[in-house]
Amino acid sequence: MGFNKADDAGVYRINEHQALVQTVDFFPPIVDDPYAFGQIAAANALSDIFAMGGRPLTALNIVGFPLGTMPLSVLTEILRGGNDKIEEAGAVVVGGHSIKDKELKYGVSVTGIIDIAKIVTNSGARPGDKLFLTKPLGTGIITTAIKRDRADEELIRTVIASMSALNSRAAELMVKFSAHAATDITGFGLLGHAYEMASGSDVTIKLWSDKLPILQHAVDLAGEGMIPGGAADNREYLREHVRLAGSVPRNTEHLLYDPQTSGGLLIAIPQSNASEFGRALKSAHIYSQPIGEVVTRDLVHLIVE
Ligand code: CO
Ligand code: CO
Repeated sequence: MGFNKADDAGVYRINEHQALVQTVDFFPPIVDDPYAFGQIAAANALSDIFAMGGRPLTALNIVGFPLGTMPLSVLTEILRGGNDKIEEAGAVVVGGHSIKDKELKYGVSVTGIIDIAKIVTNSGARPGDKLFLTKPLGTGIITTAIKRDRADEELIRTVIASMSALNSRAAELMVKFSAHAATDITGFGLLGHAYEMASGSDVTIKLWSDKLPILQHAVDLAGEGMIPGGAADNREYLREHVRLAGSVPRNTEHLLYDPQTSGGLLIAIPQSNASEFGRALKSAHIYSQPIGEVVTRDLVHLIVE
């Protein structure tokens, strides 16, 4: 059905009503606990299927493992974490492939199915839509703090819980409430993925910085310089596309560019469904306040107030 590089997953029509959705993602560990890393990597890969409104069916594991220098039990735990998440998502692991690698890497290729009439792309946002974000920002900043030994156990638990949570429930609700557009927030950060949605939809996205969900301590840690490398690239890439109000606090600004792992869904919901959608998110214990709105195209694609 065409290949749009900015969409979350590839879509291949198999009959009049249905299409396959396919995606792949893998990366080196971002937390020390191998079981948690497996869960996070799988939740992250599955997210691209959910972002389009699809249902995951099968998964293939992808592993690079430093055989000989790392005990095999580490790999067993990673795969157990991945498998548990894939099962929770209602899909099954049908195989995979591993190679010997200096650096440990794990990820999943996921195939899902989707009702063609209900595909949610990132290019359908319309003026008037309200924007929702289903997970708090700050995973890049906090995992950087973990690497520099600046995060305590409680914060580590919190960020793991957030990154390993599936976007499945939010995705079901967005389809139910006729979302116009959606994408999941990953490496390009909130503004990077919002930019793809805004340019793809030929609209401007306005975000309200005081309504953003943010992980505890992330703002302070940003102020202490716990900024991941990718954030500067995101900022540079978006320089000409963002208008930032002077009222946005400097440390909150860092969250806008923070590369996320297994971030939430950014969803554009028609205004008429927005309050009911918010209530449904709330009863599912998902952040439910709108974080912004879609307006007609301005000189820039992104405005942050
Ligand atoms: Co994505
Ligand atoms: Co992806």
